[in-house]
Amino acid sequence: KDIILVGAPMDAGKRSQGCRMGPDAYRVAGLQKALTDLGHTVTDAGDVRPDDVDLSEDPHLFALPECVGWTRALSEAAQNAAKHGLPIFMGGDHALSMGTVAGMTAHAQRIERPLFVLWLDAHSDFHTPSSTDSGNLHGTPVAYFTGQPGFDAFPPLPSVVPTNRVGMIGLRSVDPAERAVLEQDHAMLADMRSIDEHGIKAPLLAFLERVRAENGILHVSLDVDFLDPAIAPAVGTTVPGGATEREAHLAMELLHESGLVCSLDLVELNPFLDERGRTAKLMVDLAASLLGRRIFDRPTWSF
Ligand code: ARG
Ligand code: MN
Ligand code: MN
Ligand code: MN
Repeated sequence: KDIILVGAPMDAGKRSQGCRMGPDAYRVAGLQKALTDLGHTVTDAGDVRPDDVDLSEDPHLFALPECVGWTRALSEAAQNAAKHGLPIFMGGDHALSMGTVAGMTAHAQRIERPLFVLWLDAHSDFHTPSSTDSGNLHGTPVAYFTGQPGFDAFPPLPSVVPTNRVGMIGLRSVDPAERAVLEQDHAMLADMRSIDEHGIKAPLLAFLERVRAENGILHVSLDVDFLDPAIAPAVGTTVPGGATEREAHLAMELLHESGLVCSLDLVELNPFLDERGRTAKLMVDLAASLLGRRIFDRPTWSF
């Protein structure tokens, strides 16, 4: 495969800072080499810069103009990168997915296939600019790209991702306003309780089956806080009780085997909070599993 690494040092999606160092942490942790070793051709396209926008601050929202500038720039970067291969967006906080998913919807439209989004996250990030209490826009990207109201300051989406083409796995922190909408809607939700009960494989395969049935392509958005904080401390919004290292690798391997993934966000890594790079290295290993790294090339334990 041709893989394009796109740095998105976005830190504007929330008040606590440090995610801007994410792209360089992935570079230092060896993302490019890990993927090259799997036989892929990997190009590092460098870091995107936000567009300048002529917009005033909103007292209720943190860094609205800068977030709009990032959304514009990343949407264009995603569309361009997707023409040449599979983009991996090295974040940056989760507000960057407004831009990357917007761009991937344009790509999906161009190749005439529906875009699905898999959200691997402790949070649903389904607030609108009026429902958010924190005012942090990293809590809003799913509402934006599914076409919820209130995003007039942001660029119109090339096309909206209907909520029934969104799958969320790993949920364990959903605010009441998000929950009220999600409960009515038809997103595929697998919270941690359902993973405890059924494992991670069942809901993931069910979702992938839907993508396949509609001849879709799949954008994967992997938030560091999907993982348990004990193995992935480098994130500002830790929530206990997350996915284990083995669950995460299994999810990545199943995604690889599906052949459906068209693009990947690696978000919310805050290297300032890491312990000797362990979270960055784990995210690199998970990306490698998603792109084909495996222990054996044939099924084992099959006597
Ligand atoms: N729901 C909370 C908020 O709106 C937390 C969002 C966390 N999002 C994230 N991408 N880490 O502030
Ligand atoms: Mn251009
Ligand atoms: Mn998130
Ligand atoms: Mn999160």
